[in-house]
Amino acid sequence: MISVHRFVDPAAVGRAAADLVDAAVLERGERVIGLATGSSPLETYAELVRRHGGDATSAYRDVEAFLLDEYIGLPSDHPQRYAAVIRREFTDAMGIPSGRVHGPDADAVDLAEASRAYDRTIERSGGVGVQLLGLGSDGHIAFNAPGTSFDERTHVATLGGSTRRDNARFFGGDIDAVPRSALSQGIATILRARSIVVIATGAGKAHIVAQVLASGPTEALPATALHGHDDVVLLVDAAAGVLL
Ligand code: GLP
Repeated sequence: MISVHRFVDPAAVGRAAADLVDAAVLERGERVIGLATGSSPLETYAELVRRHGGDATSAYRDVEAFLLDEYIGLPSDHPQRYAAVIRREFTDAMGIPSGRVHGPDADAVDLAEASRAYDRTIERSGGVGVQLLGLGSDGHIAFNAPGTSFDERTHVATLGGSTRRDNARFFGGDIDAVPRSALSQGIATILRARSIVVIATGAGKAHIVAQVLASGPTEALPATALHGHDDVVLLVDAAAGVLL
């Protein structure tokens, strides 16, 4: 079941998402957090850093963090590698050591084995306690495009045209610079998180938010898989919630 909460603007969404992550880590004692890249969680990360960034005794210093996905084919020093993005935007400022920030190994020669290894690492950590998620404009979560089986675990995902167009803004507006594939947690991996916080802000997300909420689970709309999880909170701002 997806429970929907509306807020006035992205900053208020970020504070509400930070409250939910804090509740998981500080109150429920969760030690594994799932992190999303993209613009949706940025206010949440900034808020968490404001609250805990300077606190050397913070429980966040002991968490393990798992990324949803990683581009395939970017040079190791590329600033848009998600492993670099998340350190820059969140984990370094939170004092989470880089050795405890995990992502799928998109440089591996055997990507199928790297995918299985990633799922095993997540399981061995005890599983994700709270997962942050954004929503692609075509309803994708992580890089699971429409049509992806809900049973997929971590796998090589092909990035469709709309996803590459959406993400071109991170590559100087050049769609040709956006990789064509990524290693991505599958929907079955994501649904194993004990709680999930989905963030959608801005007018550009209004249609997909309304569609996901109106539809039953269908592989044509990956985010509808979330209807089958018992602890999903969707936080929207006024613009993203305008059609609800
Ligand atoms: C990318 C990421 C997703 C993210 C989505 C939405 O494709 N792989 O994890 O949720 O974009 O991005 P944004 O939050 O910038 O709208």
